[in-house]
Amino acid sequence: MPQHSIIEPFRIKSVQAIDLPSTEEREKALLRAGYNLFGLHADEVIIDLLTDSGTGAMSARQWAGMMMGDESYAGGRSFFRFESAVKEITGYAEVIPTHQGRAAERILFATAVQAGDVIPSNTHFDTTRANIEYQDAEARDLVIADGLDPAKVLPFKGNVDIAALRATIEEVGSNRVPLVMVTVTNNSGGGQPVSLANLREVRAVCDEYQLPLILDACRFAENAWFIKLREEGYADATPRQIAYEMFQLADGCTMSAKKDGLANIGGFLALNDTELAARCRNLLILTEGFPTYGGLAGYDLEAIAIGLNEVLDENYLRYRIRSTEYLAEKVYDAGIPIVRPAGGHAVYLDAKALLPHIPPSQYPAQALAVELYRSGGVRGVEIGSVMFGKPNSDGTEVPAAMELVRLAVPRRTYTQSHIDYVAEVVIEVGSSPETIGGYRIVDQAPWLRHFTARFEPVA
Ligand SMILES: Cc1ncc(COP(=O)(O)O)c(C=O)c1O
Repeated sequence: MPQHSIIEPFRIKSVQAIDLPSTEEREKALLRAGYNLFGLHADEVIIDLLTDSGTGAMSARQWAGMMMGDESYAGGRSFFRFESAVKEITGYAEVIPTHQGRAAERILFATAVQAGDVIPSNTHFDTTRANIEYQDAEARDLVIADGLDPAKVLPFKGNVDIAALRATIEEVGSNRVPLVMVTVTNNSGGGQPVSLANLREVRAVCDEYQLPLILDACRFAENAWFIKLREEGYADATPRQIAYEMFQLADGCTMSAKKDGLANIGGFLALNDTELAARCRNLLILTEGFPTYGGLAGYDLEAIAIGLNEVLDENYLRYRIRSTEYLAEKVYDAGIPIVRPAGGHAVYLDAKALLPHIPPSQYPAQALAVELYRSGGVRGVEIGSVMFGKPNSDGTEVPAAMELVRLAVPRRTYTQSHIDYVAEVVIEVGSSPETIGGYRIVDQAPWLRHFTARFEPVA
C-alpha cells in the first residue's frame, strides 16, 4: 500500500446534511445567543468543533450491536458485555456504568472527598474541577511548567510536576488528599499526553503517601497512541498493551465514553477498591439507576462495549491523531499561534499570542471564537478566562493561565475537505487580528459559567 496519505480508514454509508447559514443569519444568531457559542442552534453552525464529546460517528458494528441491547432493569446481558469490555481493557475489578463522565466524577467525589480536601491533578477538566469544588474541596492543577507554554514543543506536555505533587501533599498533609488524579490526555492543557514514565513517578509518590491514583481516562487510547509514537521502548507495543499498562499504574478511573468509548452517550467509574465501589453504587442507585445500567439504555452499553475495542485499532488511531495534526500544521504554517505539538483530539489556538491588544479581562479567546463563527460558521470553544478565570471579591478576576480556543475534531465525522475549510477560516480571521475587539460578561451562573454566560462587545 502506498504510504503517501493517511486515509480515513472507513467508508461513509450514512450522511447528515450540513446547513449553510448566511453571514446575516450568523450575525443574528450571535446576538440572540449573547455571543456565547453554546447558545447557537446546530443548524446555525457550518462546521461544529465545539467538542469531540459524543459527537462522533458510530460504526455499522456499533449500530448492529445496539439491536442486541437487553433492556432488563437488573442483570441485563448488555451490562455483562460492557463490564467485560471494561475489565479486559483496564484490569479493574469493579465497573459502575454512568450516564456520562461527570456523573462518575460526582459519585466518586461525593463518596471519597471531604470539605477542605485537596485533589491534585495535571489539569482538572472543567466538570472535574466543578464537582470537586461542589464538595467544598480544592482542585489543584500541577502540570509541568512547560505544559503552560503553548509554543514549547515537547512529547509529553501533559505530565504532572512531580516535585509540585510531593510539595502539595507535604503542605496540606496526606490525610487531606483523598486521591490524586491524572487526566489522559490533558484536555484543558492542550490535549497533551502523559508518559508512562511520568505515570510511574506519580504512582511512586502515591505509594509513598498511601494515596489512591485515579485516571480521568476519557482519551486513554489517544494517550496510548502518543506513547507508542513518542516514548522510548513502546514502538512495538500495541495500543491495548500500553493502555493496560497505564490503567495498571492507577487504582481506578473515571471515564466519559463519549470520547474514546466512540459512543454518543455514556461513561463509567471503574475501581479496584471493592468497599469504595459499594459506597459509590449506593449513590448511583439514588441518582443514576440500578448498578447494571447506571442511567444508560442497554443499547448504549452495547455501543460502548464495541466502541472501546474499536478505538484501540491502530489504523483508526493513526488516522485520528494525524487528522488533528494536519489541521495544526496548516494553520501554524500560515503563522497562526497554536499550542504545539497538536493535541490528540483538538487544535488549540493561542488567543493571547494572536490578540495581544485584548487583555484577559476582555476574554481574547472568547473574542477569537466568536470571530471564527462570524467569519465562517466554525464553532470552537473558549478555554481561557471565561472557563477558568477566578473572581476576586472586588469584582476583578484572576485570569486563566492560557487563553485558548479549542477546535475539537469529532471522531470519524468530518473529511479532509471540511478540515481544509476550517483552516481557511482560521487563517483568514488570523490575518487581521487588529480588527477583533474584546467582550464583557453581562450575565453569568455561579458554576460552569461558560455554558450559559451572556456577553457584549466592549465598545
Ligand atoms: C478530560 C475530561 N474529563 C471529564 C469530562 C466530562 O465528561 P462528560 O462530558 O461525559 O460528562 C470531559 C468531557 O469533555 C473531559 O474532556
